[in-house]
Amino acid sequence: MSTSTTNIESVLHEERIFAAPPEFSEKAHIRSMRELEELREEAERDPEGFWARMAEELHWFKRWDTVLKWEPPHAEWFGGGEINISYNCLDRHLTSWRRNKAAIIWEGEPGEQRTLTYQQLHRDVCRFANVLKRAGVQKGDRVALYMPLIPELAIAMLACARIGATHSVVFGGFSADALKDRINDAGCKVVVTADGAFRRGTEVRLKPAVDEALKHTPTIEACIVVRRTGSNVRMQLGRDHWWHEWMEAAASDCAPEELPSEHPLFILHTSGTTGKPKGILHTTAGYLLYAHLTTKWVFDLKEEDIYWCTADIGWVTGHTYVVYGPLSNGATVLMYEGAPNYPEPDRFWQMIERHRVNIFYTAPTAIRAFIKWGEQWPRKHDLSSLRLLGTVGEPINPEAWMWYRDAIGGGRCPIVDTWWQTETGGIMISPLPGATPTKPGSATKPLPGIAADIMTKTGEPVADNLGGYLVIKRPWPAMLRTIWGDDERYREAYWSEIEGVYFAGDGARRDADGYYWIMGRVDDVINVSGHRLGTMEIESALVSHEAVAEAAVVGRPDELKGQAIVAFVTLEGTRQASDELKGALRQHVAKEIGALAKPDDIRFTDALPKTRSGKIMRRLLREIAASGAVAGDTTTLEDFSVLERLRAQEEE
Ligand code: PRX
Repeated sequence: MSTSTTNIESVLHEERIFAAPPEFSEKAHIRSMRELEELREEAERDPEGFWARMAEELHWFKRWDTVLKWEPPHAEWFGGGEINISYNCLDRHLTSWRRNKAAIIWEGEPGEQRTLTYQQLHRDVCRFANVLKRAGVQKGDRVALYMPLIPELAIAMLACARIGATHSVVFGGFSADALKDRINDAGCKVVVTADGAFRRGTEVRLKPAVDEALKHTPTIEACIVVRRTGSNVRMQLGRDHWWHEWMEAAASDCAPEELPSEHPLFILHTSGTTGKPKGILHTTAGYLLYAHLTTKWVFDLKEEDIYWCTADIGWVTGHTYVVYGPLSNGATVLMYEGAPNYPEPDRFWQMIERHRVNIFYTAPTAIRAFIKWGEQWPRKHDLSSLRLLGTVGEPINPEAWMWYRDAIGGGRCPIVDTWWQTETGGIMISPLPGATPTKPGSATKPLPGIAADIMTKTGEPVADNLGGYLVIKRPWPAMLRTIWGDDERYREAYWSEIEGVYFAGDGARRDADGYYWIMGRVDDVINVSGHRLGTMEIESALVSHEAVAEAAVVGRPDELKGQAIVAFVTLEGTRQASDELKGALRQHVAKEIGALAKPDDIRFTDALPKTRSGKIMRRLLREIAASGAVAGDTTTLEDFSVLERLRAQEEE
């Protein structure tokens, strides 16, 4: 955990504390620490009774028989129950005035706006559910969604949920190769895409990438294409169909399937330390319950709020806090297709002013970019509608937190720093804005019902303020159920590092007040702009280039992105290092995985530091990448001269 030492030291000096503003608390769902502690105590006393009481908030076709069946590491929540998520997010709201409430307000990057009421969204979801059926999709089939951030993406997700198909959203920034791998891993029958998307004023073409991917995806039977940009695309007869043509022909009613609680809702791929991305599987009832509750608690949603989570729907934050959580609560969700600095760096602030946004949830990497662009941009706009701010994705440094509070929140809005993961399905550690006093840089305390703790590698308790492994000791409703097609890896990756508890790779410490301070990943996963990338995948992409013999990838602290990607590369015998080759390798990684994974820095070396058993010592490379020197333990290193050469290269 050596890379995080400085992090611990710097936050140790953090003594500022901000009480929940009384005018916020008065109207909040949970108004004080006393109320919050009562909920926590209830959940500790009788976890199953607590979740059962909470589950009353959902609409069930059939009530559950058992709250939890726990055969570690497999959980079954609300066994015997029958439910449908699209019913809970849509139909449920149609029986009241909410049917005419805006569900989605969307802005395209070029500036057009669309508003869909709950009734309109319901109609489109039903129609697209019928389109999916026409394309041959049945309950249990998988559907890949490779789309821009447009309302059609939310419609497609909800339509899958309506008929019991399992969606697998692939972020539109991923390459054809990454899409192909994810389609094949999930065995998708249909893919939904668009001609392209707008990003920073230019078109990012999606359909050509799909065409490329579909050359090697035997399970795909049909491809449905939204016309977004209007650019020319090739439509393959019999396989490709226009969204608008099939929607026009589809009936606008479609009864929701009454699905068992554990029916697979979605697969979302995320990076692990070794091998290919893991297809994280989430199921229906437990996930919905947790998305619903945490949205209500953490964002303190009110009927009249305009809520904006800036995440792309291709990541888990978009699944839980753009689509399922807010819609289940009947909220009005703002969605935006494009870049935060298009046409100018005040696009977000302009939109907050235009739509009178009340709740704003974004990532530390975005906040650092805002700081760099300068306070004059937010200052140009009236941000007084904001009442709550949130962050997610990586640790936020206290100074960025203070800037966010002052420059965006006018010193008036509470900040919820929310810790969670693709695997946890929803927020696990976070303040509740009407109750919890906040400390800049701390995600504060676990939510009611979440049994978090900090342990040593051998499962021993850790004293206050000492770093350790962040674990969860009891199952929770939105926990991942398995890794799609690889249950053994599920056991190994999450439940075997420390006997009997869930561990997904973060280090943390707890202070004397019981506040959690997340220190970041302890394994070989890099967090770039709030997105997890496995070093292994980037290394595989590099090695697949003909000039590369071996590669090791590490993260280096980066002011803007959180971590930058540094690749140490050894070349095939006759190949010469050059700047052209560096450029070619960066392009190659972009093609294999996506632009997000492009190394910021490539360093050629004639050998990599290894242990005697041949393992690359990434820890040493991390130190070299960060500071140019190695202070840590090198006793297991096989060949010391390698380090000397890497260091010498650093000084050049
Ligand atoms: O390292 C933690 C970091 O992001 C990881 C999860 O990444 P992913 O599954 O892509 O989900 C991102 C959005 C939930 C975690 O293991 N992380 C997330 N939120 C925080 C965080 N680190 C510190 N503070 C946070 N609030």
